[in-house]
Amino acid sequence: MAETNVFALAHKALMSAQIDEKIALTHNLHALNLSQKLDYNQEFAVEKILNPGRPNKPKLAKFADMPARDNSDIGFIASIHAICHIEFNAINLALDAAYRFQNMPDKFYQDWIKVAFEESKHFSMLNNYLLELGYQYGDFAGHNGLWKMTTDTDYDVLARMALVPRVLEAKGLDATPKIQKRFRSSKFSKMVGILDVIFADEIGHVKIGNSWFHYLCQQRNIEPLITFDALVQKHIGSNLRGPFNIEARKLADFSAQELDYLQNI
Ligand SMILES: [Fe+2]
Repeated sequence: MAETNVFALAHKALMSAQIDEKIALTHNLHALNLSQKLDYNQEFAVEKILNPGRPNKPKLAKFADMPARDNSDIGFIASIHAICHIEFNAINLALDAAYRFQNMPDKFYQDWIKVAFEESKHFSMLNNYLLELGYQYGDFAGHNGLWKMTTDTDYDVLARMALVPRVLEAKGLDATPKIQKRFRSSKFSKMVGILDVIFADEIGHVKIGNSWFHYLCQQRNIEPLITFDALVQKHIGSNLRGPFNIEARKLADFSAQELDYLQNI
């Protein structure tokens, strides 16, 4: 009989190291989600995952060893690759949320499966563009920052919701208009349209993170801003810096109080 356990299926897609297979498994999970064929009530063993499924390339390197993203053709292509790498990691990140935190309402899994599907769509758009340019995902080094924050917050769904969608993904909202501006005046202006699609979806992802963060704060009867501040101090410190894209963050449901906090840190 076909597997319907949502946690087993999310785990399988998460651990798949082959790009095409991971995307196919993510699409399958999304299709089962839409047709309401998933079972959210069977448990599945939860383990720490230091290395999720990913291909041998890109080689993981330190931020300082990333390829230069200057205004040469190769600099622009390295930038496209860097965004493609973020999207690949974002698939794993969403699948990990759906697999790991097994005591949440059904809607939580439905939300994160939708996110994983949209991230796989973003990854494919960027990888297809790289292919068009004669390159592919894996041709440049990539960093492990997104996954590191995922493992750092695997101890609590509240920490995960506070810091991955609301900090790391929201950083993408802050950065996108500037990145689009750079691409607009280059011969790689096709990226502007791709980034429009990604930006619109990412507002939805940050919104999902915000809604679950506030749900958990309410459930635990703790004050959201104090909780967020404590988690930022614990995991990020002074690295949470602006400028912030206030308009986009408003669309993603950051409250006036939260935006005020961000602008004063
Ligand atoms: Fe994305």
